Amino acid sequence: MKHNFNSGPSVLPKVVLEQTAQALIDFNGIGLSIAEVGHRSPWFVPVMEEARAIVKELMQLDDSYEVLFLQGGATTQFMQVPMNLLDNNQSAAYCDDGVWGSKAAKEASLFGKVNVVASSKDKNYTYINKDFAIGAENKYLHLTSNNTVEGTQWFSFPETEVPLIADMSSDIFSREIPFNKFSLIYAGAQKNMGAAGVTVVVVKKDFLQNLQRTVPTIMDYRKHIDAGSLMNTPPVLAVYIALLTLRWIKKEGGLKEMERRSLQKSTLLYNTIDSLPFFKTYVAKEDRSRMNAVFFIEDEALQNKFLDECKENGMVGVKGYRTVGGIRVSMYNALALESVKAICNLMKEFAANNG
Ligand SMILES: Cc1ncc(COP(=O)(O)O)c(C=O)c1O
Repeated sequence: MKHNFNSGPSVLPKVVLEQTAQALIDFNGIGLSIAEVGHRSPWFVPVMEEARAIVKELMQLDDSYEVLFLQGGATTQFMQVPMNLLDNNQSAAYCDDGVWGSKAAKEASLFGKVNVVASSKDKNYTYINKDFAIGAENKYLHLTSNNTVEGTQWFSFPETEVPLIADMSSDIFSREIPFNKFSLIYAGAQKNMGAAGVTVVVVKKDFLQNLQRTVPTIMDYRKHIDAGSLMNTPPVLAVYIALLTLRWIKKEGGLKEMERRSLQKSTLLYNTIDSLPFFKTYVAKEDRSRMNAVFFIEDEALQNKFLDECKENGMVGVKGYRTVGGIRVSMYNALALESVKAICNLMKEFAANNG
């Protein structure tokens, strides 16, 4: 058995993989693969509609919001958001809360004026800077709800009159949050919501006002809304895997249950880190991500030995992000508690043998 701690693409529920395998051969007994049916066919249209509906249901949003399934990953949203919302003479506020947030701010500066209102770059993004003010001239405030690379997470969101936008790529559907505080949410599917290839965008319709800029058709949220996310050929297989994953989340008990599990797993791991001085983390305690725990062993040779032992024990994806190094354990929705118990046991054993 493998313990899959990959940061994304990452572990998926086994039942979702089994259902996907079946649908790839014969979708719902129609004698065709899900990959072989037209996206406007009576077989696929209900898939798209149900997936969009479950997103709204899990987020408890009303009809003032629209859900889109788009392509291009969260990285495309870094530019599609400002392209749709920010004219050249307007400004937007960005939280420079990690490598992804800083990339989002950089892209936005191609379309309008960017005000970086809070940054934690001074300490290598090891905390969330919550001490800031936002001027009313800003069209929106952008933040990254979970910083996948640095292992920090927002646990309360800024109270502001300025519309909130969040990149929730790495913690979407892992906890109950007031989604209706946000005017736009986006997330790549490949962590908590399925396979790579599709990105969910949830947007409050009245937030999309006319701009001076002409937005290219394929980039225009309003045109995607009018077309029900079927303006062009969507990634049908990725949308179907997202639907299966969304159904699984719902069946398991929804976001309340995902949050209970996530708290249980992350508490176990952080308690283990804190109980073993051998393992260290720079991440501020109050901002520790429940999705991605980032820590290290001071002696690099020993750290490499630990990573090797992880591999020998079937634990994959434990090496830190290429620019950060160290160790990263990702604990997304589909990761079993047993996997976290297994790595905690290995950590204890390793510290006892090498400390
Ligand atoms: C928070 C966050 N935003 C954006 C991205 C980039 O996503 P994509 O590869 O889907 O463009 C990632 C990827 O891991 C991420 O974790």
